[in-house]
Amino acid sequence: MAQFWKPGTEKPEAQVVDDEEGGVLFIPGASSFSSSSSSGYGYASIDKQRQRLPVYKYRNAILYLVETHSTTIIVGETGSGKTTQIPQYLIEAGWASGGRLIACTQPRRLAVQAVSSRVAQEMGVKLGDQVGYTIRFEDVTNQDETVLKFVTDGVLLREMMNDPLLTKYSVVMVDEAHERSISTDILLGLLKKIQKRRPELRLIIASATIEAKSMADFFRPRKKRREPENDVNGLKVEPAILSVEGRGFNVQINFAEEPVQDYVQAAVSTVLLIHERESTGDVLVFLTGQDDIDAAVHLFNEEIQNNRKHSSGLVVLPLYSGLPRADQELVFSPAPRGKRKVVISTNIAETSLTLEGIVYVVDSGFSKQRFYNPISDIENLVVAPISRASARQRAGRAGRVRPGKCYRLYTEEFFLNHMSNEGIPEIQRSNLVSCVIQLKALGIDNILGFDWPASPSPEAMIRALEVLYSLGILDDDAKLTSPTGFQVAEIPLDPMISKMIIASSQLGCSEEIITIAAALSVQSIWISGRGIQKESDEAKLRFAAAEGDHVTFLNVYKGFHQSRKSSQWCHKNFVNYHAMKKVLEVREQLRRIAQRIGLVLKSCESDMQVVKKAVIAGFFANACRLEPYSPDGMYKTLRGSEEVYIHPSSVLFRVNPKWVIFNSLVSTDRKYMRNVMTIDPSWLLEAAPHFYKLQQPNLLH
Ligand code: CDP
Ligand code: MG
Repeated sequence: MAQFWKPGTEKPEAQVVDDEEGGVLFIPGASSFSSSSSSGYGYASIDKQRQRLPVYKYRNAILYLVETHSTTIIVGETGSGKTTQIPQYLIEAGWASGGRLIACTQPRRLAVQAVSSRVAQEMGVKLGDQVGYTIRFEDVTNQDETVLKFVTDGVLLREMMNDPLLTKYSVVMVDEAHERSISTDILLGLLKKIQKRRPELRLIIASATIEAKSMADFFRPRKKRREPENDVNGLKVEPAILSVEGRGFNVQINFAEEPVQDYVQAAVSTVLLIHERESTGDVLVFLTGQDDIDAAVHLFNEEIQNNRKHSSGLVVLPLYSGLPRADQELVFSPAPRGKRKVVISTNIAETSLTLEGIVYVVDSGFSKQRFYNPISDIENLVVAPISRASARQRAGRAGRVRPGKCYRLYTEEFFLNHMSNEGIPEIQRSNLVSCVIQLKALGIDNILGFDWPASPSPEAMIRALEVLYSLGILDDDAKLTSPTGFQVAEIPLDPMISKMIIASSQLGCSEEIITIAAALSVQSIWISGRGIQKESDEAKLRFAAAEGDHVTFLNVYKGFHQSRKSSQWCHKNFVNYHAMKKVLEVREQLRRIAQRIGLVLKSCESDMQVVKKAVIAGFFANACRLEPYSPDGMYKTLRGSEEVYIHPSSVLFRVNPKWVIFNSLVSTDRKYMRNVMTIDPSWLLEAAPHFYKLQQPNLLH
């Protein structure tokens, strides 16, 4: 193990942290802005903390730019205070007076919750009063009091359906713009449109890496003839760029000498080695998702039980979206005296959240990424190498409090030759059905002509239109159908799930289908992990339905209900109690939405045929057939003849019925179908005649 690591030969990572474009790039007349720094909220110690953040020096400059420019682009290293401070500066400067609101968007739900509660704390107010947050299915705001709202970018898009010009808001801060999530990109395109109609709306685009120039190009209005400055109402339309100087410390980079076989195991060994050899300081480990994070936590627990000497003093904590609130708070609080905190995270800790006290970073080099292939019409989550930009961000997390070290679980050769320089914007690697519906619902018909920060591929767009047409959501003129298309647009879920809900209203099984939709909206309702596989599989059999996972959810839900929502019942049955509570919440909200859009709430009691038909009405495009004579249960999708397998977490794993449909795909060594249901193929023709019959007339025989 001692020879395992090799220092990197790249330039010292300090250059990564202290980026070449440090300093203020453009602050005309900044000094003329009057300064007032006292917030009037909170306690002195918090004020002091706030003043120590790098962004504080730029407070007046930022306020000046926002005052005088339609769009201000702010680039600053993670942890410099962009997210938590800038909205507070705006409130202090009066941007939230007279009934106006400030919005700050984040791509991730967990980040929305974490930063809003931090800001409420700093301002000394209760979360949900002056400062609140809204994420899908969770609104912690107060209509009369909230002036600062943290939201996911997706939630702000939904708000536009009722208020297309976002008239409530004086400033919208689009944060984490470098992530280029699909909703951020749609939002940027729409905000640019809104600015034409509402020039007084101020935009702040905040980002952790330098792509400010291309962002500025995007927001720069096209010049008409020779107008030098086409200012509107005294506002400069040329975007301002401000770069907050970082103050990161040097981070020493170490690469693995040999390629690593099992990065979960390697991450655990590396942390133990750090614990043994290195001085105090917390450790941040980057893995890819809940499954491998849980696996790592399990390995640590085993280690702590078997080998106390090496692991005493470690506090191991997971961090991923969907983590219960109490566990999130643990991650942010300092480790008990004399202990070393080890946070095992997805890439949420890469730039969205800052953890204090991190000195060591262990980087697996991978993250879960969405990929979409318009030819096969398959979108799946793939564990794929991160970009070099991400690797540098991850390393930078080690240099916040003092010089740190980063251990990369991949070789330098891999870093240089197999990682791309930058990530690809999500819009160019996603299925576009949701995006198309949202734009259509906002009255934007020419979607290909839409002003995108990065254009989606025409093939993906055509596929999306085709699927939406088959689902009966778009008509021959590619307009939303009435009522189905408009109803689907109102439901904040994947359009296939929304279509399933609408069909269930007609089939008389909406109560059951809404339960299924809620269960599909959580990561997993089961407790799983290394070491407990056998017990959890046995527990699953108690609920397993011959029809597959969807009907199994109904059985679990029934059991949970009969146990009077008992956590012991969940524990005994390897059911995730927190996930079930979330299912209940989501279910209630979906029922409310269903009623609002005029659907009939009705139970079909035990008639599972209609439940299956409703599922097919949404998911017919994901139909597969078992390959004859396949010894290992290989299926092929009817649409693209892609090879897929039933995921081991499914109750149909090893059962291998001839015809199935699935909810989603994940890729590891193979493409696995998650949440699988048996079907009768003739129902496919019934549900989507043109989709199957016209395109592939012989397929079903
Ligand atoms: O947005 P940016 O990455 O520039 O920084 P930030 O999220 O505003 O964080 C500024 C400071 O607030 C950092 O020192 C964080 O550690 C701290 N913070 C915190 O202690 N707890 C949170 N939930 C969020 C931020
Ligand atoms: Mg931030």
